[in-house]
Amino acid sequence: MQKVIIDCDPGIDDVLALEYALRSPELEVVAITVVAGNVPVHLGVDNAFKVLERCNRLDVPVYVGASQPLKKPFVSAQDTHGEDGLGESGIARRSTVSPQSQTASEFLQEYFATAKDTGVIALGPLTNIALALTKDSRWGQNITRFVTMGGTYKSHGNCSPVAEFNYWCDPDAAALVYQTLPCQIEMVGLDVTRKIVFTPNILEYTKRMNPECFAYLQKITRFYFDFHWQYEHILGCVINDPLAVAYYIDPGLCQGFESYVAVETEGISIGQTLVDRYDFWQKKANAKILDTVDSRKFFELFLTVILNAPEATIASDLQNLRLG
Ligand code: RIB
Ligand code: CA
Repeated sequence: MQKVIIDCDPGIDDVLALEYALRSPELEVVAITVVAGNVPVHLGVDNAFKVLERCNRLDVPVYVGASQPLKKPFVSAQDTHGEDGLGESGIARRSTVSPQSQTASEFLQEYFATAKDTGVIALGPLTNIALALTKDSRWGQNITRFVTMGGTYKSHGNCSPVAEFNYWCDPDAAALVYQTLPCQIEMVGLDVTRKIVFTPNILEYTKRMNPECFAYLQKITRFYFDFHWQYEHILGCVINDPLAVAYYIDPGLCQGFESYVAVETEGISIGQTLVDRYDFWQKKANAKILDTVDSRKFFELFLTVILNAPEATIASDLQNLRLG
């Protein structure tokens, strides 16, 4: 099992990613750190606990992270994820387990001062990562892999014509991480996540395979479906974050290229990832940008775990299922 720490802003696709990671036999989720993003950080912490309760994994520690971006005023994505961050599903916390007393950035800083066998999957704005870095610019050299859901290369933005939410929400943190993190950044951006659409067809398939899971998925994605139809005229919803987890587990799922990336921190294109694929700036590549994905393979991996079904059955069924 690969040890990972998941930094997230639980929101709907974050909770799907967390459940996938927690139930995956390939990953050991060492800790969950929460950052303000889709929802204010305290709601994100509540939603992280709701996933841990659902997966019977309250043994996994949760750390409260940044409530604000480094500089930019905080703007949530509750218009997309609902006021509660779970599609206004009304799912309540059952336990009273508290988060850890250390802040997320303190924990990250301390953990990676010694640990050399753990990766990071960042599913939200990079504020916690940036705060750990500002305390010690060498921080992060022990991270085995750093996978971030964020940014976009050629696909249009989802917060502006050019900016993706996680990096738009805290552009200064994203810029700092891309400038100084001493390990390669694997950027799972909108170029690949937009190919991962959880459609009504797939939702209906989950009903046949695991009625309990279907009821939960339907409850938390209904609001998200409505948002996607209204704003992107998509039937279904783009589930960005689970792809970052699947890619961590199976790097062959996505293909891409190495390049220098900078993040814009001001002006009309704030939050844009500038991918210097043709090396105009002659700077050392700091990232691997993923730009192709096998979406059918993704759903095989994801649904096998989420539905707790035999992989062969899922693989065979998906051959005949129109994903779109
Ligand atoms: O732009 C999509 C990303 O922003 C996803 O991680 C979503 O959960 C939000 O955090
Ligand atoms: Ca997220």
